[in-house]
Amino acid sequence: MKTLQQRAIDVLNKNWKDTFSIPCANLYPFQWFWDSGLIAIGFAHFDMPKAEKEIETLLDAQWDNGFIPHIIFHTETDTYFPGADFHKSSLHPQSSKKYKSTGMTQPPVTGFVLKELYDTSNNKKASLAFVQSVIDKVYHNHKYFYNKRDPQDEGLVYIYHNWESGTDNSPIWDDIWKTMNPPDYTFERRDTTHVDASERPSKREYDHYLHIIEIAKANNYDDAKIAELSPFLVQDPLFNAVLIKSNKCLIELYELLGGNDDKIGQLKKWQDKAVKSFNNKLFDKEVGAYIHYDLRNEKPLPYLSSSSFAPLFAGIPSPERAEKMVQTMMKKFGGDHQYLCASFDPTSERFNPKKYWRGPVWVNLNWMLYKGLISYGYNDIAARVKEDTIALIEKNGFYEYFDSRKEMHTDGSGGYGGNDFSWSAALLIDLLSKD
Ligand code: DGY
Repeated sequence: MKTLQQRAIDVLNKNWKDTFSIPCANLYPFQWFWDSGLIAIGFAHFDMPKAEKEIETLLDAQWDNGFIPHIIFHTETDTYFPGADFHKSSLHPQSSKKYKSTGMTQPPVTGFVLKELYDTSNNKKASLAFVQSVIDKVYHNHKYFYNKRDPQDEGLVYIYHNWESGTDNSPIWDDIWKTMNPPDYTFERRDTTHVDASERPSKREYDHYLHIIEIAKANNYDDAKIAELSPFLVQDPLFNAVLIKSNKCLIELYELLGGNDDKIGQLKKWQDKAVKSFNNKLFDKEVGAYIHYDLRNEKPLPYLSSSSFAPLFAGIPSPERAEKMVQTMMKKFGGDHQYLCASFDPTSERFNPKKYWRGPVWVNLNWMLYKGLISYGYNDIAARVKEDTIALIEKNGFYEYFDSRKEMHTDGSGGYGGNDFSWSAALLIDLLSKD
């Protein structure tokens, strides 16, 4: 019998495609931004050259304006919709000439991933040389965000599409769908030929997703135009927490490298402003955690999701707020009959424990939660998050997402979406390496 760790290594090696990794076979046949970063964290434990190559390939697809796309279409295949011909990234004058991609981005994990690679490395000198060779590209990416995605100069960046959030069909977006009435597009979905449709977004949800992209394309993916016209414009606590965590790691890495005072100074300015605004604008006392803000319709979206706890990972809340958040989490998500941590409020009528980001547990959010809880001293609850994550994978396999209800795990059928999913394997390897 192979150990869980060996099986995880097999998954990563299987999904490695010479210069990058796919998230999983069939369902996601290209390179995805935040998947790629999180996958590198796993490779770092047993194959550092692959970890570094993964990041180099991702950054090779960066646009001249600093933007990093959410999908890089390395190959031609018609098994994924919507593909390169739909997105048409070449509409943007500064898009990559080398790679076709989408014109959307994803949570900017690269900064903290570089720090993870460095921390995991047994050869700090070589690792620092690698960091030196790529770090300015990541800085350029952060500059893009603060210069182009913050129209009111608040230190909080917007996302213009639910696919940018990473939490693709979260019930939080339902409020925004109500403000839109997209055409009933004709298209052939591919995801539902690979995965049970009850575990994926609906046709009508896809109409909304495509409509936002059509608006962006009609404006050649121009940031200012998107800020003015996109029906979806949201300040997302997960996305901004990831950016803040990455700022912090870039500062630490630039300090290790020496020099770079201007960049460190600029990062600290972004950081101070971001953390203040985040705390002032996105904390909801009644919800007892952080929430999303709808910048298009100027209103808070007061819903509890696993994104609500991501600020712990970035050190954003005060210890008092962190305590409140942990209480909220344990009360709503942490009962004995539940695995931590469902992706959406299990007490809400919008909760669906089988459907993608409307309820299931995701390993990447659990990994961030684990690290956040440790950093605030909640070691016991962190240990539970780790144990729950391991149990879900042990019982079901390396699935993309998992049912949070314990009673669903008696026969190993509580894992959903893609199987042999890369970041589930990668982050398990990292979790297993921690005490
Ligand atoms: C999908 O195809 O569902 C992807 O998550 C989009 O990024």
